[in-house]
Amino acid sequence: MDDKTEYPRHVAVIMDGNGRWARKRGLPRVQGHRAGVLALKEIVKYSRKIGLKYLTLYAFSTENWKRPELEIKNLMNLLMEYLRSELGELKSNNIKLNILGDVYQLQAVVQQELKKAVAETAHNDGMVLSVAINYGGRNEILRAVKNIAEDICTGNAGIKDIDQHFFENYLYTRGMPNPDLVIRPSGELRISNFLLWQIAYSEFWFSDCYWPDFTTEMFEKALKDYARRDRRYGGVDSVD
Ligand code: IPE
Ligand code: IPE
Ligand code: MG
Repeated sequence: MDDKTEYPRHVAVIMDGNGRWARKRGLPRVQGHRAGVLALKEIVKYSRKIGLKYLTLYAFSTENWKRPELEIKNLMNLLMEYLRSELGELKSNNIKLNILGDVYQLQAVVQQELKKAVAETAHNDGMVLSVAINYGGRNEILRAVKNIAEDICTGNAGIKDIDQHFFENYLYTRGMPNPDLVIRPSGELRISNFLLWQIAYSEFWFSDCYWPDFTTEMFEKALKDYARRDRRYGGVDSVD
């Protein structure tokens, strides 16, 4: 990348298209998810290499519970497999694992595995890898509202305290910058309940490629395209 290039600090990815990738090959959907994990590993490795500070991956939405039981089971097993096999890699690469979403609804074994990986990487500061599991943007906002109401009722906060900064402290993403760039492969042009509050001024990058086929070259292209964009945040161009 050239000197003028501005890297995003935070990239969020909706890892979509695993099922269609498998169907195209006449394989069961789980093979698509398995191939999706391989793509994920490459993107994590590349992100760390280029010095990205925050990478956020959408792995399982609050709406994904609508899927057949077997698919859900396969996804949870893959998640545990990933955590077990990659924990060492995350540690040696100074990556901190962070989970966005309501983990308490997950099976106890999954919760344990997540807790272990989060605890063992808690002191890493090279990159924050956030994985959204049982995550839904609307749920996140409702959860924040409930917690704020509770703090007001118990006298720990006042209505006058509520501003954007205050509100953000009640989100799963507390302490993180908002995503600069949101990438969605698979040809779908929608957000699917991902980071609704946080993407107010994010840039978007879509691709028809199914997630298992997503490469580091495509990721780099997204970052380069991002660097050429003019983020005005409602203001005017600096040259005007
Ligand atoms: C993304 O791929 C993985 C999850 C949502 C868990 P999909 O499983 O949604 O794949 P498609 O969209 O059906 O192709
Ligand atoms: C979004 O993909 C959720 C994840 C990638 C985890 P979906 O496949 O669930 O989204 P829709 O159903 O196409 O909107
Ligand atoms: Mg999908």
